[in-house]
Amino acid sequence: MHPLRLFSLTLALASTSLAQGPNEANYDEAKVGTFTLPPLLVAADGSKITTSEQWISKRRPEVLELFRENVYGRTPPMPGDVKMEVTATKADALGGLATRKFVHISLAQHPLWQGMDVMLYIPNGLSKSAPVICGLSFGGNHAVSKEADIPLSTRWMRDAKDKGIVANRATEATRGTESSRWALEMIMKAGYAVATAYYGDIEPDHPEGWKTGLRAALSPEGASTQWKANDWGAIGAWSWGLSRMLDYCETDKSIDTKHAAVIGHSRLGKTSLWAGAQDERFGFVISNCSGEGGAALSRRNFGETTKRITTSFPHWFCANYKKYADDANANPVDQHMLIALMAPRAIYIASAEQDKWADPKGEFLSGKAVGIVYSLFGKTGVGVDEWPEVNHPVGDWVGYHIRTGIHDVTDYDWEQYLKFADRHFK
Ligand code: GCU
Repeated sequence: MHPLRLFSLTLALASTSLAQGPNEANYDEAKVGTFTLPPLLVAADGSKITTSEQWISKRRPEVLELFRENVYGRTPPMPGDVKMEVTATKADALGGLATRKFVHISLAQHPLWQGMDVMLYIPNGLSKSAPVICGLSFGGNHAVSKEADIPLSTRWMRDAKDKGIVANRATEATRGTESSRWALEMIMKAGYAVATAYYGDIEPDHPEGWKTGLRAALSPEGASTQWKANDWGAIGAWSWGLSRMLDYCETDKSIDTKHAAVIGHSRLGKTSLWAGAQDERFGFVISNCSGEGGAALSRRNFGETTKRITTSFPHWFCANYKKYADDANANPVDQHMLIALMAPRAIYIASAEQDKWADPKGEFLSGKAVGIVYSLFGKTGVGVDEWPEVNHPVGDWVGYHIRTGIHDVTDYDWEQYLKFADRHFK
């Protein structure tokens, strides 16, 4: 080839990858363009959904199936007996505010899975059982609370820059590092129990993590499994763990699982949404800054895109999701349909002003779009047409706020969640 042609070909390739490269994110509202969301109230056979019964018996199962097939993959059937063993109880945790329990959950028929260590805080002095909020942590139980007697996690730990270094282990320096995201004192004083576990107990968060996690243990081929395009990804496995935490709570008399919530931040917010979609025992679902693949609309080109997320974090989803990397419009679902799966239960979507990567407006628009589903049940969703001002929570059954600040979970967020929970649970 003539050297000049080679040069211009290289240039053309370079500019294509710049224009379409997974690192390119649009932050300009004027460049979002127009898009059409797949309809919520039209069934696959073209018929209109006009009643709550039709939603529940016809459309909801279709939508759930579309998410299994195209986004998160299929959760396998329950793999035999779940062992739940209370390994420690302390009656005066958090300076006497709570009873703290540790529960080891494992699978009798699948000993290769090391199991998960659930940490429970149950408020002391209540006259009845406590409603519970379940959520996974990024850093282990010892990171959630500052209490010095919580055992350090011995499992693989992600490093701060998301590099999947298998040898990482927790150190004493990581004790309490996530405690600002878990307003334990506030939650206990409001009368809610908290059940938490380390997401890495279920699956270490890197592309090879499944090989030493739950997914390999459940697969007959183990670490040499060849996944099918609609098999579950890490988000599926993590959500499965949330449901097992609730299984334990159902056996504990001090907990009222008729009133159970599930919470998650960021990738774990995507996870709490998928858990809430599949497990209707969660009466209140909280998405904190969940962004792309969570509450944010994928068709809205703002912040993270399907292309970027399936390039950086392919292991979170089923392989089919990658098919929509270059064209989110080709995906039969968008994320408002995931939010709709919570109806008629309570759901709260929270964004942060500086968290543009997660597309706060796209998170709001998902929540707003499902108002028509809630109205089939005689309920109001976010109840407003315009994206609310910063620090002005809105919503009846679909709560929403955008607060000042960064991608995080703050006391302000918890204040809103607890108020919302009080409204729907008490
Ligand atoms: C990355 C990723 C997001 C995710 C976030 C997190 O930024 O792109 O989709 O929500 O990590 O989980 O912290």
